[in-house]
Amino acid sequence: ADWPAKAAPTAATWDDLVALAVRCTACAELAATRTTVVVGVYPPGADVLLIGEAPGAQEDAAGVPFVGKAGQLLDALLAEAGLERGRVAIANVLKCRPPGNRKPRRSEMERCRPWLARQIELVDPLVICTLGGTATEWALGRGTRITAVRGTEQAYAGRPLIPTYHPSAAIRFGPQGAPLAALREDLAQVADLAR
Ligand code: URA
Repeated sequence: ADWPAKAAPTAATWDDLVALAVRCTACAELAATRTTVVVGVYPPGADVLLIGEAPGAQEDAAGVPFVGKAGQLLDALLAEAGLERGRVAIANVLKCRPPGNRKPRRSEMERCRPWLARQIELVDPLVICTLGGTATEWALGRGTRITAVRGTEQAYAGRPLIPTYHPSAAIRFGPQGAPLAALREDLAQVADLAR
């Protein structure tokens, strides 16, 4: 159960890490129910890193993060903020889909942690943006409230980090809801920091 923690720091490149992570079975339940390990996307030279929660059904099928409904909204918001997709790397706290999209368990987040920790080192982004409570707590500590910190400049391992809402919250609260307006503002701030 401890092998991912040993393997992740040995990945010298993103591709190395992908090759190791796709064989991870640290979470027996998730490994048994997943279709793919959704490690993330890293366009060469990307200097912004977005962190989501976990793959959903469509991501699990495609092997790519944020390709479902939330991903389509995210694409539109990134374009609005002037963040070209080629500059944006995306990874999730969990690389494997929790059955029925249930919330990641603490134990799963900790077992998966070395992969994302190494991804952050390998991308070495100018700015990190956490999408939603799970990613924000992963980076800033358990109990961090997204409503309290969203849109404020925080830090992870010496790098600027902007927490914001998850795009699925913007979908849930609708076009007039606070999360959508917050996402627009916060991604503009991310774009500013990446200039
Ligand atoms: N939601 C996430 O947090 N990540 C994905 O990749 C897709 C949906």
